[in-house]
Amino acid sequence: MANLLLAELVNKVQLKSDIYKFSVKAPEIVKEAKPGNFIEIRVSEQTEPFLRRPISIYNLDKENGILEFIFQVKGKGTSILAKKQIGDKIDIIGPLGYGTFKTEGYKNIAIIGGGIGVFPLYELSKNAKEDNIKVNTYLGFRNKENVVLEEEFNKVSDKLIITTDDGTYKEKGFAINFLAEDIEKEKIDAIFACGPLPMLKAVQKLSIEKQIPCQISLEEKMACGLGACLGCAVKTAQSPKEAPEYVHVCKIGPVFNAIDVEI
Ligand SMILES: Cc1cc2nc3c(=O)[nH]c(=O)nc-3n(C[C@H](O)[C@H](O)[C@H](O)COP(=O)(O)OP(=O)(O)OC[C@H]3O[C@@H](n4cnc5c(N)ncnc54)[C@H](O)[C@@H]3O)c2cc1C
Ligand code: FES
Repeated sequence: MANLLLAELVNKVQLKSDIYKFSVKAPEIVKEAKPGNFIEIRVSEQTEPFLRRPISIYNLDKENGILEFIFQVKGKGTSILAKKQIGDKIDIIGPLGYGTFKTEGYKNIAIIGGGIGVFPLYELSKNAKEDNIKVNTYLGFRNKENVVLEEEFNKVSDKLIITTDDGTYKEKGFAINFLAEDIEKEKIDAIFACGPLPMLKAVQKLSIEKQIPCQISLEEKMACGLGACLGCAVKTAQSPKEAPEYVHVCKIGPVFNAIDVEI
């Protein structure tokens, strides 16, 4: 069940010029949240911006009831959010999303993320590692400047590959190519992904070709975040062209089996 609360900002770290990590006290959400869930934040008490902003859960500190999320400043909403100070109360609804990452039954998983899509994968990796699942992680960034959370993912991965599109840091190229090379070698039995749409499409195609179960998190644009508008509709893969059927990412997702959605 989603909770609405005013969560105190207890820590704020600027990871990059435009990326912030916030830690908020939200024991009600932390208790219920699962890897892949997200929250919706009302950034201002004014009417503008009116709509809440969806942000993924990055880390859950169950012992202390602390929820962490990381966001990149994009526009008005995230700019206002970035100005919050320690001690401020943040208006949050969560945990949201029905479809979450499920690792039960797998022994050797691949986690692949790109850009801001890496944030929701941390709690997943952490949980999988705690469950003694072998975690192979592939994170892609545009360049060295954009690389985040290397140390954090290193701690919760058995193998970590970092790629940059331009080769300014670690491996040059796209993370998907390194995952593709490893599928047989590492005996990967499931793939979990979040990132830009071209990356998700490539992961979806690879998983179908290799017949490996794959779960993807879709960070579609959202409006209400509660299943009441059509802001986040995505077409189901099985529905006929002449009568397409859609599902709400905010309600049914954000995590889907890759074979179930047309992206
Ligand atoms: C389920 C979900 C989880 C998300 N998790 C995170 C997260 O953990 N960290 C994070 O930094 N962002 C995340 N996002 C994206 C985040 O919600 C948007 O960046 C944010 O709402 C932009 O708000 P704004 O008011 O600052 O920008 P706006 O003024 O609304 O838009 C400014 C710019 O941002 C672009 N934008 C808006 N929404 C998105 C989106 N969903 N994806 C990409 N670009 C967008 C717009 O096209 C525009 O160019 C998530 C989105 C969804 C749907
Ligand atoms: S954002 Fe309104 S239905 Fe999903």
